Amino acid sequence: MALDFAATYKVLVLGDSNVGKTCIVHRFCDERYYDTYISTIGIDFKQKIINLDGVPIKLQIWDTAGQERFRTLTTAYYRGAMGILLLYDVTNLESFNHITYWLQNIEENASPNVVTLLAGNKCESNDRMVDLDSGKKMADNFDLPFFEVSCKDNINIENAFLTLSRKIRELRELKGDPFQETKEETEVLKNKLDSNAKSCNC
Ligand code: GTP
Repeated sequence: MALDFAATYKVLVLGDSNVGKTCIVHRFCDERYYDTYISTIGIDFKQKIINLDGVPIKLQIWDTAGQERFRTLTTAYYRGAMGILLLYDVTNLESFNHITYWLQNIEENASPNVVTLLAGNKCESNDRMVDLDSGKKMADNFDLPFFEVSCKDNINIENAFLTLSRKIRELRELKGDPFQETKEETEVLKNKLDSNAKSCNC
């Protein structure tokens, strides 16, 4: 039987390669964690129905490739996004320094109404290069909600997705549905991705 839900929220996960974008999607959607690293090719998505304060909402979560060579392809998916989870790795200073690059990319390619949440992943690690305060300051500078998270130890993963979803809901309550014009476009991209997956049998 098909599950009923009140709305679909499209969320994009962005950030440098190796910061844990695929892991956060798997942790949240499948409650699993993988230690092995397989770089994402292009883009992939998973869906999960969440209970947002008593209302079932379908989250469609797009996992993008962080590698430079996929940038042109992945930016095509920004326009349909209602929310963006922007991830850096607290053990990798470069991924943190690139946050401004990603924010600029979002500004240039996403809807002006998109809700962005900043998250510092791998916070359980002892090899930390970015402290909690620096993450908070960066988030404050750009007025973004912020969490440190760990896919490995399942810290704040649900909090991050629920906070992002609540912000999307607030925006929709304020502005109606500001993403209406991008829905058809996203559906076309999703169908294309489905048929590509079928034709390569993967
Ligand atoms: P691209 O597909 O290349 O863009 O990378 P990605 O951002 O999707 O990274 P991915 O999720 O594949 O994770 C990269 C590596 O980081 C993997 O070896 C994971 O096991 C590891 N990793 C992910 N999350 C955590 C975490 O919370 N803690 C630690 N210590 N390692 C993690």
